[in-house]
Amino acid sequence: MKQPDRSSEEFAGEVRGMFDRIAGVYDLMNFAMTAGLHHTWRRRAVELARVGPGSDALDICCGTGDLALALRGAIGPEGKVVGSDFSEPMLELARAKAGGRGEPVEFEWADALELPYEDGSFDAVTVGFGARNLADLDRGLREMARVLRPGGRLVILEITRPQRQPLASFYSLWFDRLVPMLGSLAGDSDAYSYLPESVRSFPDPHTLAAKMEAAGFEGIRWLLLAGGIIAIHSADRAA
Ligand SMILES: C[S@@+](CC[C@H](N)C(=O)[O-])C[C@H]1O[C@@H](n2cnc3c(N)ncnc32)[C@H](O)[C@@H]1O
Repeated sequence: MKQPDRSSEEFAGEVRGMFDRIAGVYDLMNFAMTAGLHHTWRRRAVELARVGPGSDALDICCGTGDLALALRGAIGPEGKVVGSDFSEPMLELARAKAGGRGEPVEFEWADALELPYEDGSFDAVTVGFGARNLADLDRGLREMARVLRPGGRLVILEITRPQRQPLASFYSLWFDRLVPMLGSLAGDSDAYSYLPESVRSFPDPHTLAAKMEAAGFEGIRWLLLAGGIIAIHSADRAA
């Protein structure tokens, strides 16, 4: 599933269909692929979002809700936390997870390229492992800027390709070979072959920072974790 071969609508439809299909194994696969480390990366992303009691936060491409729930933990009972996604099966799992924990998070359907929120509605917007799936990243970034209040925070947590050895070789073995194998064990080899493909075609950290600047962000920084496999970009919406 390569984006350049498809129209944006076709690509988005295929991405949505794929996440609808793998929703049931998504959390288990996340655990298996990261040895549970993804929760640590999400906590770091929440710290960088600089939310606190009473903040209003939006987590787009929220999937099964882990990042939105981590935001709720930092914000406490006051303030609003919304998680949005365009895959209903993912949203159903997120709602069940939040309900089971008694955490008040609104999980609702929304296309990240056309968010149904007023300008300046949120203090923070986060996106975890979602930006790389957007059919039009620049448009997605502009939408993130639009729904943030001036000075609001954007945090993007993504997989990236390490540049240095020996991590680069290990990464290649893990992502290009073992992850698709795990995917076929989980019953969807296509989806987990798409994963390394999508990381390969996503901009490197410098290029992503330039795109964020073009979309209206300033003070852009990024942090590399797990030997350079994970990048967390953070920025403020320009006033
Ligand atoms: C890899 S999952 C990430 C889920 C979650 N954020 C996490 O951290 O585990 C990517 C999610 O992005 C969603 N997605 C992709 N493109 C989208 C779009 N244009 N609008 C809304 N959701 C989108 C998919 O449905 C999927 O749930």
